[in-house]
Amino acid sequence: MNIPTNRTRLFEILAGLLATQLIVFGLGFYMLNEPTRIAESQTQILQIQLDDAMTLYAENCSVCHGLAGEGIGAIPPLNNPALQTMAYDDLTKTIARGRFNTAMPAWSKEDGGPLSDYQISELVGLVQAGDWNATQDRVVNLGFAPLVPFTTEPDPVLFAELANLPDGATLQTAVTLFAANCVACHGADGLGTGIAPALNDPIVREKTTDELTRTVTFGNAGTLMAGWSNALTPEEINAMITLVQRWDEVPAGILPAPNVPIPTTEESIALGSQLFSQNCSRCHGPEGQGTQRAPALNVKAFLTDTSDIAIQQIVTNGVPGTAMPVWGDRMTEAEIQAIVGFIRQWEATAPEVAVPARGGGGGPPWMRNNTTATTSNSVTQPNLQGAQQSAQGQGRQMSSAWWQVFDWRILLLIFGALSISFTLIFMGFESLNRRPKKNL
Ligand code: HEC
Ligand code: HEC
Ligand code: HEC
Repeated sequence: MNIPTNRTRLFEILAGLLATQLIVFGLGFYMLNEPTRIAESQTQILQIQLDDAMTLYAENCSVCHGLAGEGIGAIPPLNNPALQTMAYDDLTKTIARGRFNTAMPAWSKEDGGPLSDYQISELVGLVQAGDWNATQDRVVNLGFAPLVPFTTEPDPVLFAELANLPDGATLQTAVTLFAANCVACHGADGLGTGIAPALNDPIVREKTTDELTRTVTFGNAGTLMAGWSNALTPEEINAMITLVQRWDEVPAGILPAPNVPIPTTEESIALGSQLFSQNCSRCHGPEGQGTQRAPALNVKAFLTDTSDIAIQQIVTNGVPGTAMPVWGDRMTEAEIQAIVGFIRQWEATAPEVAVPARGGGGGPPWMRNNTTATTSNSVTQPNLQGAQQSAQGQGRQMSSAWWQVFDWRILLLIFGALSISFTLIFMGFESLNRRPKKNL
């Protein structure tokens, strides 16, 4: 073996040094960028969790805490700055265990609720860092917008009439309690909503007193039906059971459906429009102007006289004895609400007198005007701003220039590989150079 000359030695040392420098340089660069990368993937995970949490909120919490966490009546808001700074553990405990002696149920599986610890942590994230505009749109799009306030007032005249029934005082107590605690979920006159079954129903009346008492006292684990033993006395619970069993005697309208408009988003209107043309237009006409088969819906009198909730009920249950089908078994509540929101948009431009579509032809001019009016009308929907914000929110990817997306570990590898091959080539050159020198 040849002993390397000083000159080659120097080159070898330099090459080694260069390689080390490159590695350190690459590593440094990588470490410099690593925190940004970690922060970014954390933001992405948070984004996914917040997205889950909005759905959980829509399904479980909006009925009491409102469309956008604004609170309903006596139920406190969740879009409250004080909650954003509340200790994480305290907030987790409130949601997991509920608040004893209030309508706030326990939500963790451990405490008999429907949610896992992970889901509760997602909800804590929403309360502390969520976007309530986007949450509102989610609630509307999923059809969970609370249309019945959490509490209502019984109709005073019908309420007074109750006293004439046998044990009328008990029924009055129960109606008052129902209006204060149950109506949000079980609906006006106990006729049910999208989130809870009707209690004013022959099937429920047939259940045994024990069975009903157990449900109201302890709730049904894993559903929205919480136990009421903390909030109601045993006598009050008995009164509720009496009401449920004797509801057929209670005058209809005692707990009236309020005229709450169904909220809409850009997305829900688009869905409603699509569902209408697929399912309704063949009878009600493409612009709701009516045909020989079915009456006009796009007409002033109908729209001013019929509340959103009433339209929703007609569409859900159909009109028995006519060609108007039942849609409740074919469409979700959210889909039906989307159609109702779409139909409601016509109100601003609806004609006094409808001109029914006849097969074929383009129809009279007001129909064509109406088409454009309908489209521009959708732009003035009150919720549009929220919808656009959420659309932007959803479209808003992390602003990702290539150097943010680029994984710097690859750079480290490239630098490493380059410096190694550089050193090898350099050393190979040296040994080739040396051989002829020695032979000379
Ligand atoms: C049946 C109605 C109801 C439902 C459903 C409900 N809550 Fe509540 N919630 C309440 C009431 C009532 C209170 C106030 C309790 C009190 O007085 O301390 C409350 C309080 C809270 C608080 C504490 C607010 C504060 O300012 O201290 C949080 C947080 C909360 N709820 C979160 C949730 C979450 C998350 C969900 C859905 C998983 C949910 N709630 C579902 C009725 C409800
Ligand atoms: C947050 C929504 C919510 C509230 C508030 C609520 N319930 Fe319920 N309730 C439900 C749900 C959901 C079910 C269905 C549970 C199931 O699927 O097992 C239910 C079921 C019931 C049942 C059993 C019905 C049957 O067919 O067996 C009774 C009785 C009942 N609730 C009574 C009440 C009373 C009385 C109140 C008020 C004190 C009340 N609920 C408040 C959501 C609610
Ligand atoms: C097969 C034909 C048919 C289809 C399809 C149909 N309807 Fe109807 N609809 C009718 C008829 C007929 C009536 C009138 C019922 C009556 O006489 O009260 C009606 C009545 C209604 C009413 C009440 C109108 C009023 O003036 O009281 C509404 C609201 C309505 N339909 C909505 C819808 C929606 C929304 C769809 C699509 C999801 C739909 N209908 C699909 C035939 C139809």
